[in-house]
Amino acid sequence: MAAHQITLTINGRDVAAEVDDRMLLIHFLRERQGLTGPHVGCDTSQCGACTVDLDGRSVKSCTMFAVQADGGSLLTIEGVAAPDGTLHALQEGFREMHGLQCGFCTPGMITRAYRLLQENPSPTDEEIRWGISGNLCRCTGYQNIVKAIQYAAAKLQGGARKEAAE
Ligand code: FES
Ligand code: FES
Repeated sequence: MAAHQITLTINGRDVAAEVDDRMLLIHFLRERQGLTGPHVGCDTSQCGACTVDLDGRSVKSCTMFAVQADGGSLLTIEGVAAPDGTLHALQEGFREMHGLQCGFCTPGMITRAYRLLQENPSPTDEEIRWGISGNLCRCTGYQNIVKAIQYAAAKLQGGARKEAAE
């Protein structure tokens, strides 16, 4: 096993670390950086619980090596709220629309939705469903997750979504 020096930005913070070449990004984040928001659900690229944002793309951090993030700019759920703690519109939306139950999928779901709304600020329900199709939820049935993302899209565009959670 070889060690590599990597430098990257995580949630706006400069990080330098030495990592083994086969260390997965999710393990680097959780075990070395103390960022336990991204979860390990399946470890096989299917559930999306480990989703983070790297250089403007949603990535499943169980499917990447930490060395592949070298030089990158990475966002986890811990960096989504404002520095003063004000919730992001997506976090507010998930709370207001009851977009979670056990919460296990939620960090990955919100991080994915964060990028989705950058890619498409006014998605239709169908576009949201397609956009989060790489993220599985065992609890909610997705309906309120879609509403939560619509809530955030409306808020970010300066409007308000009236439809209530189910
Ligand atoms: S833990 Fe990465 S996709 Fe499931
Ligand atoms: S809220 Fe439990 S898995 Fe999504």
